[in-house]
Amino acid sequence: FIGFDWSEAKDSVEYDDEQEGIQQEVVIKFSHVVAENTPKGIAARRFASLVKERTEGEVKVEIYSNATLYNDQNEYTALKEGHIQMIAPATSKLTDYFPKWQVLDLPFAFPTYDAVKDAYEGKIGQTLLEELEEDHLKGMTFWYSGYKQVTSSEEPLLNPSDFNRTHFRIMPSPVIQSQFKALGASTSELPFNKTYKNLAVDFINGQENTVSNIYSKKLYEEQDHMTISKHGYLGYVVLMNEQFWEELSEENQEVIRKALQETTDWIRRHSIEMNDAHLRRLKRNEAIEVHYLSNKQKELWKQKLETVYNKAEPVIGKSLINEVERIQE
Ligand code: LMR
Repeated sequence: FIGFDWSEAKDSVEYDDEQEGIQQEVVIKFSHVVAENTPKGIAARRFASLVKERTEGEVKVEIYSNATLYNDQNEYTALKEGHIQMIAPATSKLTDYFPKWQVLDLPFAFPTYDAVKDAYEGKIGQTLLEELEEDHLKGMTFWYSGYKQVTSSEEPLLNPSDFNRTHFRIMPSPVIQSQFKALGASTSELPFNKTYKNLAVDFINGQENTVSNIYSKKLYEEQDHMTISKHGYLGYVVLMNEQFWEELSEENQEVIRKALQETTDWIRRHSIEMNDAHLRRLKRNEAIEVHYLSNKQKELWKQKLETVYNKAEPVIGKSLINEVERIQE
């Protein structure tokens, strides 16, 4: 038997990454909370593979999905502190830090996909992204996800009176809270990855989300009804740690900017198809029944929700509210 000295083995191999000719790998840790088979899940992977290919492996995007690394309550701080370099939270989740971001949560504000695009890529998006600079964050782009629908146990939510005695899981946004209050429901702010469990134990009996999130997180198993209400749009803002961004080479910044732009174009188109495909699957699934709001019911919702606009205007400001009105014309 010949003994083997491990310490010697370790010392015998020396790496010097700084050595000329050896490329340093740049790692972008990208944390998000949704499943892989969602618009955001796939967009993140497409972005990572574009960056890998175009930097010939120099920049590596590591994706942590399903809130495995950070959840929606701590990912923002983790980004600011540089533990991760990139996140793409629902815009509602920024309203705690930047109240004007509530404009994107206003009910029935962006009734068509063109209206959403106009909001993200026009004056509203630009104003909101500029606000982030105060907090030393780099707002890169908006990513599309889908319209929110409501789900419930026992009874479908069709008329505003159906919301009495429902308790909803919501994302943290005062506009979303006042939306449900105006409809007659109570609410609790809960992280996305706790929604299923809280439905299962009946702490909540309703929630709003995109069809794709309802499908991929199996929320339909714990809910009896889904109403296609399209009462609000859920989208994301892609954020990077500012210092990390500034330390990247100009070439890498350019590759990342371009890859994000292409991914934004991709997700705008494919998020619609994905939600439609998941809706078809839910319609075939016996666990949940799908309902549509009639025009009359929608008018009743809108009447109830007028107060939400009045309450939010001093926070959001007249100029952004005017922009919402312009987009709707
Ligand atoms: C939610 O919390 O419901 C959403 O933000 C999840 C997501 O990121 O799509």
